[in-house]
Amino acid sequence: MGTTSTMALPSSLLAGILLFSNLRLTSAQTDNGNECSCFRTNGSSAGYFTYHRFHDWRNIAIAANPPAAISSEINATAAFATSNFFISDAWTGDWTTQNWNNSDSRGSSDATILMINSPNNVYIEKSNDTSPDYTSYLTLRTKRLPDFQSAAEVDSNQKNFQYLSARFLARVIGSPGACAGMFTYLPNNNAQLIQEADIEILTGGPRDMVQYTNQPSNDKNGNPYPQATVNSTNPGIRDWTLWNTYRLDWMPKMTSWYVNGLKVAQIGFQAPRDPSSLILNMWSDGGGWTGNMSLYDEAYLQIQWMEVVYNTSGTYAGTSKRDEHGVGGLLEKRKGTPGCKVVCGVDEKVNVTGTPALLYNNTGMASTWRGEGMGELAWIPAVLVGGALFGYL
Ligand SMILES: *[C@@H]1O[C@H](CO)[C@@H](O)[C@H](O)[C@H]1NC(C)=O
Ligand SMILES: *[C@@H]1O[C@H](CO)[C@@H](O)[C@H](O)[C@H]1NC(C)=O
Ligand SMILES: *[C@@H]1O[C@H](CO)[C@@H](O)[C@H](O)[C@H]1NC(C)=O
Ligand SMILES: *[C@@H]1O[C@H](CO)[C@@H](O)[C@H](O)[C@H]1NC(C)=O
Ligand SMILES: *[C@@H]1O[C@H](CO)[C@@H](O)[C@H](O)[C@H]1NC(C)=O
Ligand SMILES: *[C@@H]1O[C@H](CO)[C@@H](O)[C@H](O)[C@H]1NC(C)=O
Ligand SMILES: *[C@@H]1O[C@H](CO)[C@@H](O)[C@H](O)[C@H]1NC(C)=O
Ligand SMILES: *[C@@H]1O[C@H](CO)[C@@H](O)[C@H](O)[C@H]1NC(C)=O
Ligand SMILES: *[C@@H]1O[C@H](CO)[C@@H](O)[C@H](O)[C@H]1NC(C)=O
Repeated sequence: MGTTSTMALPSSLLAGILLFSNLRLTSAQTDNGNECSCFRTNGSSAGYFTYHRFHDWRNIAIAANPPAAISSEINATAAFATSNFFISDAWTGDWTTQNWNNSDSRGSSDATILMINSPNNVYIEKSNDTSPDYTSYLTLRTKRLPDFQSAAEVDSNQKNFQYLSARFLARVIGSPGACAGMFTYLPNNNAQLIQEADIEILTGGPRDMVQYTNQPSNDKNGNPYPQATVNSTNPGIRDWTLWNTYRLDWMPKMTSWYVNGLKVAQIGFQAPRDPSSLILNMWSDGGGWTGNMSLYDEAYLQIQWMEVVYNTSGTYAGTSKRDEHGVGGLLEKRKGTPGCKVVCGVDEKVNVTGTPALLYNNTGMASTWRGEGMGELAWIPAVLVGGALFGYL
């Protein structure tokens, strides 16, 4: 099962990043839904969330063909960002590209090769596909080189997500021996105490099967917890080499997963409890979970867009404070709109991907009114309790 727990070691900042910190490029993520005060999801894991983010990598002007791989360990580690995009606020406001390696953890895992995360493996790729809907996407690459496995990982700056619904329009292509991961993550030095809700795609596995897991998936003696994981066929037996929308709902006491709007797994056992981050990665360590990649083989996790609605355990914990409408806008917009007066859906009624649809507008209703559409989750009108309840006033 996934050994991601041993992987998200502390990162160090990329050298030289500050040189370009004032660059402003096309925004890749927007905070559509500024007029909404909360966001509703559908399905059996439906819920209400305070924040919304849409990361859109479909039409980035700077898109290019993949950068050549770097075969030196030191240079792969120290690699610069592959384009200015990754040193712009549109990226650095939300994500930190990783360059850690597994040298510290190899002894305690079944890894058979040094794995180095390189910023050189994270790039905006120009699409050769025929679809007019996108000209680019985000690619995370892993490649087997003579001395090491070059891998890719990006971690969210936000470390205090506490419950979320995340959706990824993604595909995985390439050679066997690698694992694509999209997951929540709370580190701990004790592998039994990490918390994770995972989507994992193994390039060596059947091309229509995806693994969903609440980590840890093994007990302290290394025996698997079968109830922690589901190995599921994509609806319609669709290959993961095709674009599919993977949805991860991390809710209290339950994680649920959907593919293209259909539920594929639901696991209550060990559902993450505490504030966590989000990670995307494409990796291999030659161990039992990923398998080995053949020399010079490559595999890729490609993502057109990612949408996430979420709550946080406290205030925003990212690296910078930003204007709500600016590039990489921070969600301080709820000032003045306490409680959930304007309910928007991220599934129901949505016409434009990434743009929440208005479901109910309770603005101007009597202060004691419990809004239609709020159901059991009705938010107490803020005038009664004060906006501080919501933690963002
Ligand atoms: C949620 O809504 C979308 C859009 O209407 C639909 O495609 C999807 O199947 C729904 N999902 C669930 C789990 O009901
Ligand atoms: C998110 O926060 C709002 C406001 O506190 C709350 O009503 C809602 O139930 C929370 N959602 C989840 C999934 O906990
Ligand atoms: C590492 O990068 C430096 C600077 O570009 C270059 O001079 C050197 O040859 C590279 N090392 C290897 C082993 O490729
Ligand atoms: C691997 O990471 C360790 C720190 O964990 C560092 O000392 C070492 O230089 C790194 N190796 C390479 C090749 O970057
Ligand atoms: C797209 O086309 C370019 C130019 O022919 C090529 O270098 C690149 O590898 C292609 N990318 C993919 C994903 O096929
Ligand atoms: C998932 O199930 C398929 C079919 O039984 C199997 O071939 C594959 O190895 C399984 N994957 C994992 C990770 O257990
Ligand atoms: C990967 O290859 C190494 C040596 O090349 C071997 O020791 C190891 O058992 C292989 N691992 C798997 C999972 O096949
Ligand atoms: C969806 O699109 C239709 C047709 O363009 C439009 O009338 C409707 O208002 C849109 N709905 C939302 C929620 O934006
Ligand atoms: C909600 O209703 C208020 C008051 O009628 C109005 O000012 C506001 O524009 C509406 N919001 C949306 C998103 O429709």
